[in-house]
Amino acid sequence: MTHKLLILSDSHLFGSRYQELFGVNTYQTLHKLSTHIGDAGGSYDLAVASGDLSEDGLSGAYEEFHDLTQGLASSFVWMKGNHDQFDNVSVELTKKYIHPEWHLDPWSLIFLDTTLKGRDEGELGESELLRLEEFMEKYSDKHLLIFMHHQPIEVGSEFIDELGLLNHQEFWELVLRYQNLRGVIFGHVHQEYDSNVGEVRLLSTPSTAMQFKPFSRELDFDLSTLGYRNLTLNPNGSMETKIHRIVAVN
Ligand SMILES: [Fe+2]
Repeated sequence: MTHKLLILSDSHLFGSRYQELFGVNTYQTLHKLSTHIGDAGGSYDLAVASGDLSEDGLSGAYEEFHDLTQGLASSFVWMKGNHDQFDNVSVELTKKYIHPEWHLDPWSLIFLDTTLKGRDEGELGESELLRLEEFMEKYSDKHLLIFMHHQPIEVGSEFIDELGLLNHQEFWELVLRYQNLRGVIFGHVHQEYDSNVGEVRLLSTPSTAMQFKPFSRELDFDLSTLGYRNLTLNPNGSMETKIHRIVAVN
């Protein structure tokens, strides 16, 4: 049995739907993209929001995210990004959306918290590294995917690479011991990325709000498109994936 995933990233919603980020109304961009995804009629077993659901971390932003995306997939997992304040997510939405792992047999997915309080860089703390190691040991007979907000590899844009996963070396030393790791999936970089480290696929997803220009030294926006990623997990451990984009302008 194959499993179909939808990945959304970096929506940067505000507590108020009228507020803008660098001139972009992030409520409207997510509204436009989720309407498009709904109309496309794909059926997804799981959707993942790979962090920075909100820009200001206010509870209203999470209510809006829920309202705009509910119904897109059978289940939905929300991951914390550097801008998120998950303490402000209601008890009800926390129970529904925030999960440490997810299992779509024969695949097992772990969602890691790479955030550092008050900082834009990421790091895997002791407890997350331990949780990761226990997960890798426990599911040694499954195909594994690791999700984290911060990128554990340089994507080629200097300013965002300075804000990546600080202890990426420690991360790779741990996970490359396991032959059944199929992919590492991240957000934060606001652009499409697809490469390999050994046999492990590395994937990022464009933002639902605004993109950063690839290979730029300084922060430079590409406001022309909004995007999402489809990911199909096959029983033999192979994956198919595709980025879809729509024009951003209203
Ligand atoms: Fe981020």
